[in-house]
Amino acid sequence: MLWFKCDEIIPGVAIAVGFIAICLGGFFLSYEYDPIVNVEILCSMAEEGENQRDIFRQAGKTAVILGHTGETGRVLVKLLAQEKLFKKVTLIGRREIPLDKEVVGPEFEQKVVDFEKLDDYEEDFKGHDVGFWCLGTTKAKSGEEGFKRVDYDYVLKTAELAKSGGMKHLQFMSTHSADHTSSLLYTRTKGQVEEALKVMHFERLSILRPAVLMVDRQESRKMEAFARFVLTPVSKLFPTAITVPIEYVATAMINIAVSTTDKNCETFENKEIHVLSGKSPICQKKEKTKTK
Ligand SMILES: NC(=O)c1ccc[n+]([C@@H]2O[C@H](COP(=O)([O-])OP(=O)(O)OC[C@H]3O[C@@H](n4cnc5c(N)ncnc54)[C@H](OP(=O)(O)O)[C@@H]3O)[C@@H](O)[C@H]2O)c1
Repeated sequence: MLWFKCDEIIPGVAIAVGFIAICLGGFFLSYEYDPIVNVEILCSMAEEGENQRDIFRQAGKTAVILGHTGETGRVLVKLLAQEKLFKKVTLIGRREIPLDKEVVGPEFEQKVVDFEKLDDYEEDFKGHDVGFWCLGTTKAKSGEEGFKRVDYDYVLKTAELAKSGGMKHLQFMSTHSADHTSSLLYTRTKGQVEEALKVMHFERLSILRPAVLMVDRQESRKMEAFARFVLTPVSKLFPTAITVPIEYVATAMINIAVSTTDKNCETFENKEIHVLSGKSPICQKKEKTKTK
């Protein structure tokens, strides 16, 4: 009897699964093949990034990273240590972590601050040319109020201090679909921060909107780990649709820093971050079609 019922159900289930797979495939395809309007500019920024490095090094600039103990921050520290692009890199966080002296040179300095008393640390925010803001928490970890405190209050207060301290270029790690009118706390908060940063009028503000970060996270986040597990095959089939490897984000940040622009404010979506990293085949494909 039971076998008979299963037999009846299986074709229906197979059709439903097939239908869902087609819908999801269509959804990912539409993201994957969504054209990038300014792809030439982005490719040249990625390439310029490669060529500009010597000129940039000679300028003797200084940088500050917020969130250096997090996943993106740590990759950024590693890459900056390899490239030696800045004369000095200040790492501001709520705790000190051991830095690998084999990798990280003497130009890196950690500063521990109390984020509830940021005004007391004004000095630490002075004299940085470029800022990489990778700070953030989650509602699951810190609750709604805690999330807003970190992702809105801390981010903006530190940006304000750095701006008053002379910082010219801020790079802010926002998120895919950030929108200050969103009904979702996460995307709304990131969107609100973007808007608030825009009116601070940095000489240059670069907003990065990555989708799901592909990273083997040190800290256990069950939902995120599950999402990554599900999205791993998607990222192989549709690499730029809704995921981005964390190394791409950090490399894109560096390429943005060394590139030049006359824009005061620029926003980079997930696919654009892939291009800016210089690791995506998109630019090579463009180059090939040009030379044909
Ligand atoms: N995960 C994703 O898929 C994803 C996607 C798009 C955008 N983003 C955004 O990208 C940014 C970086 O992401 P990530 O995954 O690299 O971040 P992460 O690994 O969670 O690191 C976050 C950083 O913020 C610091 N932080 C957290 N709570 C703090 C608090 N209460 N006081 C002071 N510092 C605090 C952490 O310090 P401790 O090490 O001391 O905790 C750490 O340095 C975040 O803003 C995130 O929202 C993430």
